[in-house]
Order: sequence, then C-alpha cells, then structure tokens
Amino acid sequence: MRLFDVYPLFNIEPVKAEGSYLWDKNGIKYLDLYGGHAVISIGHSHPHYVKLLSEQLSKIGFYSNSVKIPLQEELANKLGELSGYNNYQLFLCNSGAEANENAMKLASFHNGRKKIIAFSKSFHGRTSAAVAATDDPAIVAPLNKTDNILILPFNDAAALEEEMKKNDIAAVIIEGIQGVGGVNIPSDEFLRHIKIFCDKYGALMIADEVQSGYGRSGKFFAHQYSGVQPHIITIAKGMGNGFPVAGVLIHPDIQPRHSLLGTTFGGNYLACTAAIAVLDVIKKEDLIQNAWVVGNYMMEQLRKIKAIKAVRGLGLMIGFDLEGPCAEIRKQLLNEHHIFTGASSNKNNIRILPALNLKKEEVDLFINSLNKVLTATLVK
Ligand SMILES: Cc1ncc(COP(=O)(O)O)c(C=O)c1O
Repeated sequence: MRLFDVYPLFNIEPVKAEGSYLWDKNGIKYLDLYGGHAVISIGHSHPHYVKLLSEQLSKIGFYSNSVKIPLQEELANKLGELSGYNNYQLFLCNSGAEANENAMKLASFHNGRKKIIAFSKSFHGRTSAAVAATDDPAIVAPLNKTDNILILPFNDAAALEEEMKKNDIAAVIIEGIQGVGGVNIPSDEFLRHIKIFCDKYGALMIADEVQSGYGRSGKFFAHQYSGVQPHIITIAKGMGNGFPVAGVLIHPDIQPRHSLLGTTFGGNYLACTAAIAVLDVIKKEDLIQNAWVVGNYMMEQLRKIKAIKAVRGLGLMIGFDLEGPCAEIRKQLLNEHHIFTGASSNKNNIRILPALNLKKEEVDLFINSLNKVLTATLVK
C-alpha cells in the first residue's frame, strides 16, 4: 500500500529529539523553531513527560468513557488552576478540528441557532463545520460548503454588529492569534466587542486557542490580554506536547446532558497523562514567563534586521514578513543552517513557534543564521 500523498515533505528523517533540537538519521542536529506546527510546548522528550507516560503505559493505556478515569479530573483541576478558568467545564477530545467542531455544535445546541461567524484568514481545522469556518476555499469540499457560516472582515466591529443584529447567530469563532493566516493579532477592542455583541444578541463567543494557547503567547491564553472571557475555549496542539489530545473549555452556564457530545478516544489515560505532564512542567519551569521574555527578545532582534518589513507576535508565537516570498530563505535556513521554521498562508511570512523553554542563546543562533541567509540572498 502507498501513502496518500497529501503532504509536501522535507528530505529529512528525524530519529531523535531533545529540548529544542532534533537529530536526523545521519546525525545532523537541527534547531526546532517550529515545534511541529506549535505542538512541542515543553520541549522534545522532556524527562518528566517521558517518565509519566512510560509509567502510565505499563499500568493501563486505554479504556472507554464508560468508566471512571480520575486522571481526567486531575487534568481538569490543573488546567483550571493554570489557565484561570477554574469554574469552566472540560470536554476532552483528540484534535484541534474536533475541539472546534464540538464547540460550534455545542453553541448551536445551546441556543438552537445554526449560523456561525468566522473571520478572514481564519483557520479552524478540516472537519465539516471547522473547515467551513476556515477562510480557504481550496480545502472546503462541496459537501462542507454551507450558508450557515459567514466569513466577515477581521478586526471590523461595525461589520460584525451589522450581521449580529439579525439575532440568528449561534456563535462567533476567532483564533486567539491567527496562526495559519500569518500571525495576525485581533485587537483587544475587537475581542471585547465580540463578547459584548454575543451577550447582547444571544450568541456564544468561541476562542480558538488551539495554536495560540497553552502559554505560547506569554499568558495562558492569548485572548487573556483583552480581559475578555469567551463562553467556549478550544485547545489542542501544545496540550499534549505531541500526544494527540484536545479539549473544549465550557462556561458554567452551558448545561451538559448525557450523549450531547462524545468520542471514543477522548480523555484516555495516556492523553490525560501527557496533558498533566505538560501542565506540571509549564508550572514548575515557569514556561509562560519564559515564552514572554524570550519571545520579546527574539522580536527585538528581528526588528533590527532591515530586510524584515514587519514583525508580529506575542510571546513565542511570532511571524515576520519579508519583501517577497520566503520559501527560499526557509529552505536555506533548513538545509544550510539546520533550523526548522514555519510558513503560513502569506507567502512573504515566516512563522516561529518553538518550544516554550527556548533559550536566548538559541535565538542568537537563529538571528545569526538568518542574517547570513538574508545577506547572501539579497547580494545574489
Ligand atoms: C487555530 C487552529 N485551529 C484548529 C486547528 C486544527 O487542529 P488539528 O490539526 O489538530 O485538527 C489548527 C491547526 O493548525 C489551528 O492552527
């Protein structure tokens, strides 16, 4: 059998990883400034994570959600404490798309409405409602096209209120910081307006923190800079440091009932253990603060480089734009300097999404290599 060829691949085969580094099968060491799409939050193969997961695997790895799994409560408590959302409820699932799909479904169940508002350049995943709420027609199959999802301009409160006045919107979904769209930060004012309009017109606000959450922005959630408390928050990526686990944080006024939502694998022993280990390390090693300090340091260094037109970000979720397409620059960083970076839907943009325990020395190494690549490319 052949693999279904949907991923363009680098010709690199990693066999080992530790902290912010990967090693390929030829022993070449790479600096990982992308964390496999913002997934590696506490660093590759963190000893606490490896220990907890290995111990759990030798006890019990899986049973269904028809039995008591106290690890789920431990995870919910630790997540509530670290995120500041102690009074919210947690639904566990397996991926970012699934978290968003359940969030939108829940909003629709809650208020009986069926329309969702999302914003330009959004990315919410590839399942049916999630992909329809994603502003990329190339990945929306005819089956998923629906009039129930409206894509409105980003950061435009007036356009939003115009639509919400019709009183038929179930939910407004917005990323804490747009990732795939090129690291675009919603203004605090816009986020506050979304919450105000949702409360006024009977809709729910969903913050998609799948990429921007889990301490990456220098706060547990990026939307917390605005002071707004969304009704629903979705999480995935950094939550399991590579183990598939995701969640939906749900306002206490939204009532559950049996069978309203469900999943076979969600909240299994290994997923909970991975997520608990991540929270333990984030807390013990003060990684949210590190993300803030090292992220600011990286942005300061990037802003000194003349060839860089714009730098956007919060903490260690950083994007910068060059004058033209940056595919070649990223290729050289990878092949000649052995540094992984990320692309976005904006061809001129490079995304930096490293582990939250990245060190300033590693930033220096990157800036030095980036300067060399940019100089060589601009001189050519
Ligand atoms: C903001 C956001 N939401 C949702 C998703 C989808 O997550 P997953 O690929 O785990 O389904 C992504 C993935 O890139 C994302 O960046």
